[in-house]
Amino acid sequence: MSEYDRKTLAPTSASTRAITSANIKLTATLALAASFLVACAGSSNSAHNADGSKRLTIAVVPMGTTDEYWKMVHAGAVKASKELGVDIIWQGPIRRDDRTSQIDVVESLIVRGVDGLVLAPVDNMAMRGPVEDAKRSGVPTVIIDSDLQSNSFVSFIATNNNKGGAMAADYLAKLLNCKGKIALLRNVEGNASTDHREQGFLDQIKTYPGLEVVSSNQHAGATAESAYKASENLLAKLRTADGKPGVDGIFCPNESSTFGMMRALQDGELAGKIHFVGFDSSKKLLAAVSKGDIDGLIVQDPMQIAYQGVARIVDYLGKKEVPPRIDIPATLVTKDNLEKPEIHALVAPDLAAMLGEK
Ligand code: BDR
Repeated sequence: MSEYDRKTLAPTSASTRAITSANIKLTATLALAASFLVACAGSSNSAHNADGSKRLTIAVVPMGTTDEYWKMVHAGAVKASKELGVDIIWQGPIRRDDRTSQIDVVESLIVRGVDGLVLAPVDNMAMRGPVEDAKRSGVPTVIIDSDLQSNSFVSFIATNNNKGGAMAADYLAKLLNCKGKIALLRNVEGNASTDHREQGFLDQIKTYPGLEVVSSNQHAGATAESAYKASENLLAKLRTADGKPGVDGIFCPNESSTFGMMRALQDGELAGKIHFVGFDSSKKLLAAVSKGDIDGLIVQDPMQIAYQGVARIVDYLGKKEVPPRIDIPATLVTKDNLEKPEIHALVAPDLAAMLGEK
């Protein structure tokens, strides 16, 4: 099992000090304590199915557990576990930038002997070692939501994030009649899903000569609080000497950055005065769309991403063909389509019923 430089989190060479069994036990214990959120679903009393085959246990490891997005990922995984007759273990860090905790969680799950892993990596490099360890231990991995720079996983299932960023750029350009100043507030460095949205956004904005990017190097950080502070700082930096906003359109690439910017615009009495496109959905973000504080949200289908993740790892374990990549479409949600039944089903599913909490 390879060891990691705890500072850089990069896997060190195999010749480094092997982790002793005591360390593995300690790691497993710490991981269980550090992972904060462990839930099991689809658990049956027997370790075997009716036909005598071994009942599979699939670990689903999210990037974080606070955003509403991850609650919908959980619901999709539980739905798959019930329909496919497998058990799932839902275990992940609270913060979406907690690389150490996610590494510890995956290593503890390998020690625990799960049959397969569905992982949303917090970082496209730091999680390479644990996924390679899982493969060496005979535990296959499907990556969901955010890409990983590795060849050691079975399939990648996510929104096409570059296209999602481009969708945001096209909508913002339409709102601005293809003319004006644009700001991008980035999410967290190393998070492939939002890195790709940000790049897709900037590349598409370049196709509109009348649009000028006045800021694209500020990061919101991993929480709504850090995003609120970063948004306030950015808006203050952009404000002109005569008190004008200094920007006509803003894009944020995920739930927490969008929420932080929304709150900063509202508190600064700028909501509805600057065109604003975000990513993901939540009750509060959808209320802001309805109110006109947010012009549009690029909304993913996290339940389908998770469902496909569990279904494909079960296929792989059953020796069935698994596509190397599955793109799950994103949808632009605005005031005009918010109440349509298909949009309501996408953004406001009955999670409690799906998680069996009713
Ligand atoms: C957000 O982080 C991203 O990786 C997901 O796609 C979603 O946009 C949720 O925390």
